[in-house]
Amino acid sequence: MIRLGVLISGGGSNLQAILDHVSAGTLDATIAVVLSNKKNAGGLARARAAGVPTVVIEHTEHAGREAFDAAIVTALREHDVEYVALAGFMRIVTPVLLDAFPMRVVNIHPALLPAFPGIHAQGQAFRYGARITGCTVHFVDRGTDTGPIIAQTAVAVLPSDTEESLSARILVEEHALFPKALQWIAEGRVTVASGATRDERPRVVVRDAATALGLGIAPSPPAASST
Ligand code: GAR
Repeated sequence: MIRLGVLISGGGSNLQAILDHVSAGTLDATIAVVLSNKKNAGGLARARAAGVPTVVIEHTEHAGREAFDAAIVTALREHDVEYVALAGFMRIVTPVLLDAFPMRVVNIHPALLPAFPGIHAQGQAFRYGARITGCTVHFVDRGTDTGPIIAQTAVAVLPSDTEESLSARILVEEHALFPKALQWIAEGRVTVASGATRDERPRVVVRDAATALGLGIAPSPPAASST
């Protein structure tokens, strides 16, 4: 059982997936607090409906990113948080947060990193003409979407796709991937190993990787019948 703090900025559909897995018993976690940088974030109502404490810390009311993150760290500590899940949290985090929770801040990103980091990743992949994109769960380091990758699901870009339809299919996969990766962490199966050579990056090792590899390419919709 891990105590999770979930940081959001928006509608909170990933938060909802996490809450649903906790109540279904498939994510061995307590959601200790949901924290939003926007007081109107739709995800706050989802948290309240689930009986989870909520905190709003508006970044506009802090002098800079570090002061904002220090307020977040205080709130997370007040709720005895062990791991931090960024579930659509649209702020760049600083070492103030990362050093308080070293390799314990986990992000969901709507692309197959290292491709298409940053904002509007689904649109970036769509406009680029990628044939396959997807979603990534990773530990957060000091770069933007550069931290060690825990799990990924690939999503094919269909000829008929719009940016919206592609984003919607990626989101469905996010809702499955994020709780699953968090459950691996809750089970103590996830460690970060330093690279074997100087130019090799730190990488995530998931114990019992056969199960981990159960996540793969999302099935394509059935082909239209030609008869
Ligand atoms: C999700 O698609 C998530 O991957 C993305 O924001 C959306 C939040 O949706 N996060 C990022 O782009 C982070 N850079 P939600 O509020 O419905 O979970």
